[in-house]
Amino acid sequence: MFGEFPETVPTHVRASLGVEGVEGKHFDAVVMGRGTYDPGLRLGITSPYSHLAQYVASRSLGTSPDPAVEIVSGDVPDRVRKLKEQPGLGIWLAGGADLAGQLVEEIDEFVVKTYPVFAGSGIPMSRAGFGIRELELTDLKRFGGGQVVTTYARRR
Ligand SMILES: NC(=O)c1ccc[n+]([C@@H]2O[C@H](COP(=O)([O-])OP(=O)(O)OC[C@H]3O[C@@H](n4cnc5c(N)ncnc54)[C@H](OP(=O)(O)O)[C@@H]3O)[C@@H](O)[C@H]2O)c1
Repeated sequence: MFGEFPETVPTHVRASLGVEGVEGKHFDAVVMGRGTYDPGLRLGITSPYSHLAQYVASRSLGTSPDPAVEIVSGDVPDRVRKLKEQPGLGIWLAGGADLAGQLVEEIDEFVVKTYPVFAGSGIPMSRAGFGIRELELTDLKRFGGGQVVTTYARRR
């Protein structure tokens, strides 16, 4: 379904997408859990989003495998609140569900990609537990392959 991995794995996401050197418009930092960082790390990719300031939540990693990546442990929401106070572009929460659950009250915007595939079950978007948070649809993009990207702002 996903095809073969290339023999040479690109060392960061922008190289694999062919958009190196393009100025970012939306984000200048990324926060992810170790579960999200780990698959790349196992391929030797230590700085996957090298165009952004990178923060990985982990208690097990100890020292960072890359000087461009800061390991955050403990009160991650507090660290994110401090990052939000700094001037600059947005912070992208790259996942996964564990971290998204802890940070759910800090999320100001949800960008959801939907593919025309029915999987039946899978990994939840967040493990925040049940709780209604009202959202406002702010953007919707439809692509030729049936993919849809919807953007929602959190109503406060
Ligand atoms: N579809 C998408 O757009 C998307 C995006 C991202 C991820 N994903 C998928 O989601 C999966 C990973 O999600 P996940 O929920 O299993 O894991 P995750 O949220 O990425 O990472 C969980 C890990 O983060 C660390 N962590 C969490 N809270 C922490 C805290 N307060 N302090 C310190 N460390 C903390 C812990 O690492 P330690 O164990 O090192 O302590 C924990 O095991 C992967 O399969 C990935 O492919 C999908």
